[in-house]
Amino acid sequence: MALETGLDILAKARAGQYGIGAFNTNNMEITQAILEAAEEKRSPVLVSLSEGAIKYGGRPLIDMVIHESKQASVPVSVHLDHGSSYESCLQCIRWGFTSVMIDKSHEDEDVNTKETARVVEAAHAMGVTVEAEIGRLGGVEEHVVVAEEDAILTKADEAERFMTNSGADYLAVAIGTSHGANKGKGRPFIHHDRILEIAALLPHPLVMHGASGVPAEMVEKFNSNGGELKDASGIHEDDVRKAVTEGIAKINTDTDLRLSFSAVVREILVNDPKQFDPRKILGPAREAMKQIVADRLDVFGSTNKA
Ligand code: 13P
Repeated sequence: MALETGLDILAKARAGQYGIGAFNTNNMEITQAILEAAEEKRSPVLVSLSEGAIKYGGRPLIDMVIHESKQASVPVSVHLDHGSSYESCLQCIRWGFTSVMIDKSHEDEDVNTKETARVVEAAHAMGVTVEAEIGRLGGVEEHVVVAEEDAILTKADEAERFMTNSGADYLAVAIGTSHGANKGKGRPFIHHDRILEIAALLPHPLVMHGASGVPAEMVEKFNSNGGELKDASGIHEDDVRKAVTEGIAKINTDTDLRLSFSAVVREILVNDPKQFDPRKILGPAREAMKQIVADRLDVFGSTNKA
């Protein structure tokens, strides 16, 4: 099947009040886990590559992700996560991505708007749709760490002005979530009121970054096999279910896959010290990630929406 654009998939989700998972990949096993789970659940999906993933895997990774995504029997868009520049976005479009994010959220609104508008003009000319961000999430973003006190919630009036002036297709909003495995103590808080305020002004699909659930059983498996992950906590499933009824249409998940991969690899290496066949180590890790993706698709409500 030809790849779809991000907007093709996300506009239906916003209208239908369900969420689409945008799962980050770095290798073959993660890509297979995402696509196999999406096919089994009959769910559309976005497969995301960050610039860090692209640097890590290069052309072999990019070509594999695009090839496998095109083979899928459900709608798939290949997406650039947190593109840092015009050049980076255009390079990905040339490689065959059908969705790009330009993230100038750390700049002031004027620069963010102008840089986003440049990417939008070029991307739209090539049939590709664009995510942008206004506001600032806390947590670890690739190599940049944003302290909680520097995180800024997205303001509804700014978001409306930004989308009108930039022409972007979907908007990442800062609503209390953060990247990584430590999203705060207790039950990390999502500002549902803020989502509703933004959604009342904007018809665009809204994007929630930093949405991993950080399952307690995976943290336990990781830590009981020599890992040291302290105070790990994620976004509660009920908050995600509510957010998709409020206008969130794209839900980014990376940490849950990294965590389940590492927890299972640790468990195998500890329990089977003679094991050195990569397939016996990576195969079960792939299965665990597939299960996590499948569970997430049910929570997002995108099961049977393909
Ligand atoms: P998590 O760290 O919660 O998985 O978020 C990932 C993300 O938002 C990637 O853009």
